[in-house]
Amino acid sequence: MGENMTHKIISSHLVKGSMVPGEDVFVTVDQTLTHDINAVMTYLAFEQIGLKRARTEISVSNLDHNLLYIDFKTPDDHIYLRTVAEKYGVYVSRPGNGICHMVHASRFAEPGKLLMGGDSHTPSCGALGMLSIGVGGMDVATAMTGLPMRLTMPKVVKVNLTGKLRAGVNAKEVVLEMLRRVTIKGGLGKVFEYVGEGVKTLEVPERLTIANMGAEMGATSSIFPADEVVERFMHAQERGEKYREFLPDEDAAYDEEMTLDLSALEPLIALPHQPDHVVPIKSLEEHPVVQQVFLGSCTNGSYSDFAKAALVMKGHYVNENVQCTAGIASKQIYKQLMQDGYLAMLVDAGVRILELSCGPCCAIGQVPPTNGIAVRTSNRNFRGRAGSPNANIYLVSPESAAATAIKGTFAAAEDVMEPEELAKLSEIHEPEHYFVDDAMLIKPLSEEEAEKVEVIKGPNINSLPVPEKPEKNLECRISLKGRDHISTDDITPAGAEFSSMRSNIPLMSKYCYHRYDPDFAERARELGKSIIIGGENYGQGSSREHAAINPMYLGVKCVIAKSIARIHCGNLINHGIVPLLFENPEDYDKVEQMDWLQIENFPDQIAAGEVTVIDKTKGISFKTKVNVSEAQKEVILDGGQLRHLQKQLIEEGILPAE
Ligand code: F3S
Repeated sequence: MGENMTHKIISSHLVKGSMVPGEDVFVTVDQTLTHDINAVMTYLAFEQIGLKRARTEISVSNLDHNLLYIDFKTPDDHIYLRTVAEKYGVYVSRPGNGICHMVHASRFAEPGKLLMGGDSHTPSCGALGMLSIGVGGMDVATAMTGLPMRLTMPKVVKVNLTGKLRAGVNAKEVVLEMLRRVTIKGGLGKVFEYVGEGVKTLEVPERLTIANMGAEMGATSSIFPADEVVERFMHAQERGEKYREFLPDEDAAYDEEMTLDLSALEPLIALPHQPDHVVPIKSLEEHPVVQQVFLGSCTNGSYSDFAKAALVMKGHYVNENVQCTAGIASKQIYKQLMQDGYLAMLVDAGVRILELSCGPCCAIGQVPPTNGIAVRTSNRNFRGRAGSPNANIYLVSPESAAATAIKGTFAAAEDVMEPEELAKLSEIHEPEHYFVDDAMLIKPLSEEEAEKVEVIKGPNINSLPVPEKPEKNLECRISLKGRDHISTDDITPAGAEFSSMRSNIPLMSKYCYHRYDPDFAERARELGKSIIIGGENYGQGSSREHAAINPMYLGVKCVIAKSIARIHCGNLINHGIVPLLFENPEDYDKVEQMDWLQIENFPDQIAAGEVTVIDKTKGISFKTKVNVSEAQKEVILDGGQLRHLQKQLIEEGILPAE
């Protein structure tokens, strides 16, 4: 049997391990990316590791998420991120260049390479035949050392696409349909590999939309072939020399298979508060007043997305009840839309053009009103994601978002366009040549120049807290018992105010679980040390490692849950919180917040993979599993990734022994 693309990339980067699903493999990483609201901790860690320079082919620090300088903190962060990048040989994508995933796909992605990024939507670059994996910030720091990275060998799912999208139906519908079928947990431990005749009908940004939202299925990644469509895109980006055809073998073996007919898709909508609550728009019986529409984000912020939204809006005005804003994904796209007249169409219709940044997607501006309804083309609709705990977020395509903005309630393009106008949407394609101008990218300095750079840290930038090793006998209370599907937005709230605190853990930790349980931070601090209980899919959503660092700083020693999301589980381990899973999920119901728990011989039990927890309040005990690899257990027992990494670098002779 031949090889699929995922296996080809992993085997060509493999240093250690066997490629059996579920087993650990160790791979070299070619490229990394970070963004401003997660990255300060990454670079503080990299500084602490003690190497002189990043040891990857390409590392990029994107200043793209929080461009609202509401006080000194974020501009200070941006100066730190620029100077630290210059010091360690990292590219900087300056504010205004665009959102990290679109910038990376356009300017850096290469077929057959391996990218790790400190953002859960890093798989976006799978659109160009690159294996792109979202990880925590500490993992990115690790990848930058050049040491092989641990990866759980994924299963590979063949997604056979047939047919062709009809006018008014977007790549968003492809991934919403995937979510409807697979659910938010169905991608766990898997890479979705899109193949088949239907793939050839999808342009690179459409593939990016699909790969991007594979993250919402919990997938390790998603990947498309590097074929003539990718070749055309890379030539349009003046990067044709980096193109190489990269396809699965014709007789490639897969662990699972599914088929999706693009022609059969119709406009879909994800209902609050999970992206897999997907139904056809036309099936909605209620048509309430919509207050906000947001076009864009990394998911659907491409040239074609906006050009199509503009055509839907042509000759119409945004409904008077609606605030409609646009977050275009890059400067290149902005200029092209301007040249081709689509920007004017949007502005004429009453769309407010925002900065080229993430903005509303992570609650940096455009928070919906009380109990408001927001319709967005971004990728997440968790409660609180828009910065308001009582807002309802619906996810749709740009065509449907534009129609909704006009009508003031849920609508698809076909509801506002005559058939002959609708057909014109299919005539919109990506440019044959983009505006290529890398003036907004700061290139890495030479080693000699880098030595002279002074890294500038504003007063808000605190050092990275480093956890202790697990104690022998742990005895503490439960500081929080949470429901199913707690997201990292619940643990560390999104928004301009909170994002600007991310370099200052003592400050930010005061707002840990702020919108979910406002008393948590104070309670955990008073307890000194504690345990969190979670339900299913604990820590889903954004890769932000602050959702591990803040609880660790407040003394949380372990999380016991029914299941834990992949990236968050890695972040807990990296930051010294032990992730445990109930062996019997019914034990979740037996424990209560503030119960006294005891774990004897904790390190030994971690090493053995099974931990008995005694609930002294209830007079019961229950079993939990340490459902992590042997390599991850080592990290836990070393007291987190930073201590573990320094030990490894000394053993490898890369760092001198102290
Ligand atoms: Fe930014 Fe939202 Fe994408 S925060 S990276 S636009 S998921």
